[in-house]
Amino acid sequence: MDFERIEIEFSDRFAYITLNRPDKLNALDRKTRSELLIALDEVEKSSARVMMLKGSGRAFAAGADIYELSKRSPLECIDFAKFGTDLFTRIEELEIPSIAIINGFALGAGCELAMACDIRVASFKAKFGLPEINLGIIPGSGGTQRLPRLVGMGMAKKLILTGEMISAEEAYRIGLIDVLVDEKELMNKAKEIGMKIAEKSPVAVSFAKKAVNAYYSMSLKDGLKYELSLFSVLVSTEDAKEGLKAFMEKRKPEFKGK
Ligand code: COA
Repeated sequence: MDFERIEIEFSDRFAYITLNRPDKLNALDRKTRSELLIALDEVEKSSARVMMLKGSGRAFAAGADIYELSKRSPLECIDFAKFGTDLFTRIEELEIPSIAIINGFALGAGCELAMACDIRVASFKAKFGLPEINLGIIPGSGGTQRLPRLVGMGMAKKLILTGEMISAEEAYRIGLIDVLVDEKELMNKAKEIGMKIAEKSPVAVSFAKKAVNAYYSMSLKDGLKYELSLFSVLVSTEDAKEGLKAFMEKRKPEFKGK
């Protein structure tokens, strides 16, 4: 499939998706979102172990497309936001982990998209914020829910209520991003993290992701039960047997995803 707003490439056990609308700072219009959805189908069908998501030019993504939003009726705007919510949740729930690689503006829906990824790696050039309040609206695709889970209630309210933009250093300090590096090291750092994940048993990686994600939706008691149920399945996999055996034989395990 030929895309207009994004690029997709498979290489080295990674699926790379690049938001590619640099003249509009990769603003997430309907077309970009629809293409992203199709790209996720391709990623799921592939043998990629990690999805890498990045933006071309000066931005990761500078938010929903404000021009498009302004032309829509209130009902269409709700539908648009719901599309984003479902899209970002699908990324969060992908079997394979995703890494957001951020080298510029990650604002509004761009920040929401980054927050739906499993790990956020950014350069010192990155800038973050949920500026929707400046437009008389609020984040509509997960921002009010994922931000407090990452940075805590008070800090999330400060960012959402002021709509201020923060530096990469500040985003790293508050836990909005997980890794901060120089621009020239950004891709290598993301690949290094991705490769460490790609070498593991894909079943264990997928279950580990599911278990940690349950932290969002379950009580501690239910989460512990869920963790145990996933653990119980994993211990009987061939990969688990191989992992334990390889340790004792002092060699690298060869995981087959079984
Ligand atoms: N929607 C649509 N277009 C956007 C956009 C958005 N969210 N963000 C940037 N663009 C476009 C600009 O309109 C401009 O296009 P043009 O050259 O055709 O006029 C282009 O991207 C470059 O942006 P510009 O504002 O000229 O760059 P800048 O460096 O001066 O400022 C920002 C960068 C990110 C601070 C500024 O673009 C901005 O505030 N964007 C909106 C962020 C936002 O509120 N997002 C939440 C949306 S709900």
